[in-house]
Amino acid sequence: MKKILKRVLVATMALSMGLASASCSSKKSITVEKGKLSMATNAYFPPYEYYEGNKIIGIDAEIAEAVAKKLGLELVIWDVEFDSIIAGVSSNKYDIGMAGMTVTEDRKKAVNFSKTYATGIQSIIVKEGSEITDIDVLSAGTYKVGVQQGTTGDIYMTDDLGEDRVVRYSKGNDAVLALSTDKVDAVVIDNEPAKSFVAANDGLKILETPYAVEDYAMCLNKNNTELLEKIDKALEELTADGTIKAIIEKYIPSNG
Ligand code: ARG
Repeated sequence: MKKILKRVLVATMALSMGLASASCSSKKSITVEKGKLSMATNAYFPPYEYYEGNKIIGIDAEIAEAVAKKLGLELVIWDVEFDSIIAGVSSNKYDIGMAGMTVTEDRKKAVNFSKTYATGIQSIIVKEGSEITDIDVLSAGTYKVGVQQGTTGDIYMTDDLGEDRVVRYSKGNDAVLALSTDKVDAVVIDNEPAKSFVAANDGLKILETPYAVEDYAMCLNKNNTELLEKIDKALEELTADGTIKAIIEKYIPSNG
């Protein structure tokens, strides 16, 4: 009898200890690493994220910094391939993905998106003097288009022109370099990075496109709704007090 009682007691103790530590660990931190906000980006996308020396700066980096500050967290930025960001966020490698990332229905199946903090549109970059004058000429011909792998530019072009005419690069810069060296006939990329690339490389120009305006947002793991709520609240406050507008205008002076 005594023995049985003891066993039951031990079992209950173990169970309650287990429960205590389980609830402890779930309360421990809402971020991957306690006290830190890990952001995955692809830092070849000016003015949203790019290197200045060995520091990643830009609109996304500064907005993330302001959000982290509000949450009392230290921002840590990881520069990874654009098309690995969503997988990294859904496997809890990073807390957020922030990379001028467009909210799409397809991506929403894998991650949650925060409130929108900026917008973009896909632009076509061609060489000056190119016979490609608009999307119709581009589509009708046999031209090849360079895109950054896994981006909306890649998705649209693959849909419009077919797999065979799309050449994928791991960075936007590489696609632009391919255009400058005649490996592709055009590049499709978001408008603000397009402007930066054209400004930095001689002999290129931008064509207007009929594509819809895209919303940029941070992506988060589907299970981390607690962090999402906090981030959305921070973004709301930073929008209301003009911080986000000021950051965007710092990098895109003509905006606003
Ligand atoms: N807006 C596009 C998309 O979400 C391109 C984003 C590319 N971002 C980057 N940091 N390289 O697909």
